[in-house]
Amino acid sequence: MNLGIAGRKAIVCASSRGLGKACARALAEAGCEVVINGRDAKKLESAAAELLSVAGVKVIPVAADVATPEGQKALLAACPQPDILVNNNGGPPMRDFRELTRQQIMEGVIANMAVAIELIQKVIDPMCEKKFGRIVNITSSSVKMPLAGLDLSSGARAGLTAFLAGVARTVADKNVTINNILPGAFDTDRLRGTLTKTAEVKGKSVSEVAADRMATIPARRFGNPDEFGAACAFLCSAHAGYITGQNLLIDGGTFSGAF
Ligand SMILES: NC(=O)c1ccc[n+]([C@@H]2O[C@H](COP(=O)([O-])OP(=O)(O)OC[C@H]3O[C@@H](n4cnc5c(N)ncnc54)[C@H](OP(=O)(O)O)[C@@H]3O)[C@@H](O)[C@H]2O)c1
Repeated sequence: MNLGIAGRKAIVCASSRGLGKACARALAEAGCEVVINGRDAKKLESAAAELLSVAGVKVIPVAADVATPEGQKALLAACPQPDILVNNNGGPPMRDFRELTRQQIMEGVIANMAVAIELIQKVIDPMCEKKFGRIVNITSSSVKMPLAGLDLSSGARAGLTAFLAGVARTVADKNVTINNILPGAFDTDRLRGTLTKTAEVKGKSVSEVAADRMATIPARRFGNPDEFGAACAFLCSAHAGYITGQNLLIDGGTFSGAF
């Protein structure tokens, strides 16, 4: 399918690895010019080289912390009026909620809620004027199925979801859409890090822990980031203008509700 977005400009936050990178790659393959981002400049450069080689489009790496005002400024300087914005950021580490300090709570809310809102504030009006805008937020299946220990992540992302549910309805008539994609377990560095920690705690091998986790997923496997990227690119496509304010759960069937 031709996604109808060749030549569009996209900012994909936190995209040197994992799900963000897969989104950037799918958009680049659809012909978009992409700004990619991460804090580690070396990894970012190698991701930029990879995207350029597979898609042959303009790829602009911006090494910056997306959670800071300077980082956001640098992203917008590289692409002042994006047609597409994919919001993403690292998630907080697993922690007993009793241990969270006020500072850590505020940082979690900033990282997984405020940053996305701030970027949307800065890009949405030009999108409305152009009568084209696609905003996708990478949240988590924990918005629907909160997990003890990742409470800050679940809470901040649920807050973002509710916040944007109202906003999405105010711009739908301008062909500007805002949707969220909720990943379950995807095979990325983050998931591998969690599996390694669990293996240490349980005294098991990483492959045993991975097998245990896969057994809880109806699809009996982890998601491939490319599957995630393809869904993101579709939501950013010319064909998705009537899809807005939605939460697309991609979790191999783990959430077992009918709705
Ligand atoms: N993978 C899963 O199964 C899963 C499930 C549910 C939710 N999620 C959520 O989805 C998001 C992406 O996860 P992932 O698995 O793709 O993670 P990942 O493999 O760890 O990749 C994270 C990416 O974000 C960048 N990044 C992190 N913090 C950043 C910051 N402050 N500023 C700019 N870039 C930053 C990293 O680059 P640098 O480190 O170089 O900055 C890297 O490119 C996370 O919020 C995660 O919690 C993932």
